[in-house]
Amino acid sequence: NHSPVTITVTGAGGQIGYATLFRVAAGEMLGPDTPVRLRLLEIPQGVKAAEGAAMELDDCAFDLLESVDVFDDPHQAFEGANIGMLIGSRPRTAGMERGDLLEANGAIFSTQGQAINAHAADDIKVVVVGNPANTNALICASHAPDIPAERFTALTRLDHHRALAQLALATGARVSDIEGLAIWGNHSATQYPDVFNATIAGRPAIEVLGENGKNASWIESTFIPKVAQRGAEIIDVRGGSSVASAAHGAISHIKSWVSGTNGQTTSMAVVSDGSYGVEKGLICSFPVVCENGHYEIKHSYDISEFSRKFIERSVNELKSERDAVASLGLLGNAR
Ligand code: NAI
Repeated sequence: NHSPVTITVTGAGGQIGYATLFRVAAGEMLGPDTPVRLRLLEIPQGVKAAEGAAMELDDCAFDLLESVDVFDDPHQAFEGANIGMLIGSRPRTAGMERGDLLEANGAIFSTQGQAINAHAADDIKVVVVGNPANTNALICASHAPDIPAERFTALTRLDHHRALAQLALATGARVSDIEGLAIWGNHSATQYPDVFNATIAGRPAIEVLGENGKNASWIESTFIPKVAQRGAEIIDVRGGSSVASAAHGAISHIKSWVSGTNGQTTSMAVVSDGSYGVEKGLICSFPVVCENGHYEIKHSYDISEFSRKFIERSVNELKSERDAVASLGLLGNAR
């Protein structure tokens, strides 16, 4: 058996938290040999819901679950954390301006960044799920100067899975036959799902799409908006936001990061090293591969004029979010 891993989950009393905790405790994220210690963080109004989830976790008598503790203080919640799943955030409510939203979340993620810096384990890995996820991750990292910025990531794995599913649907392929698909940019409506570097059973996806009567205009007018607006479509149809699929994305993100992707490409929003002309320091979604607990941005992608236009639009949005939080004084150490 491996040594136990401490996982801090924020927003643990919320919907995605509830859909995440039981799968993590069952070993679906870190595998059947790794005991887990859960530390649940909520705001005072959410503590009861988190305590209820903790009671149900007890009632499952999971072999791998060593402990569950509930906190409303981030400094306690992140004590010894090896993994941080930052799900809780301040949702936009009626009449709230974008600046108000960024400010409310800036306060949350700067405090959590400080708490992680002060108390987390040396090997802490963070995924931010709470929106605006990329910019929240940027704020968090900027308040944790002693931790490499590479350890702060944001979730675009749900978008990646949505793109895989739509490409499979459009071509009749199996999801497992698709490789090289990637989400670029921000986890927002400007995200760019790139099929031009993807293959289906070893053949260019573009070719297979063409055989199925799907050309560039289908990609632009159907595929890209379908993936980018899937969250809104789910709300429309289900009468509630994506929850189980978001939890699955977050679990898959950490699982890949920790255990590797066996040479397969996935998507993660990570700190830009300047690759593909994306300004250094922005938290941007890229194609990555993971191995031995590390991820690496893939550098081999061809970016067509078509792709460039979409990637730039999303990166410009990331810059404007970054500039907005910087002007509100929400970024700690400039990186
Ligand atoms: P929810 O409202 O059900 O749960 C959020 C929980 O976070 C609440 O219990 C709340 O009390 C808690 N919370 C708020 N501030 C907190 C803080 N400072 N510390 C700890 N806990 C705090 O919302 P749901 O459905 O679970 O979604 C959570 C977030 O995930 C939202 O921001 C949503 O927009 C985002 N999301 C991101 C996706 C992605 O792919 N990146 C996909 C789907 C949702």
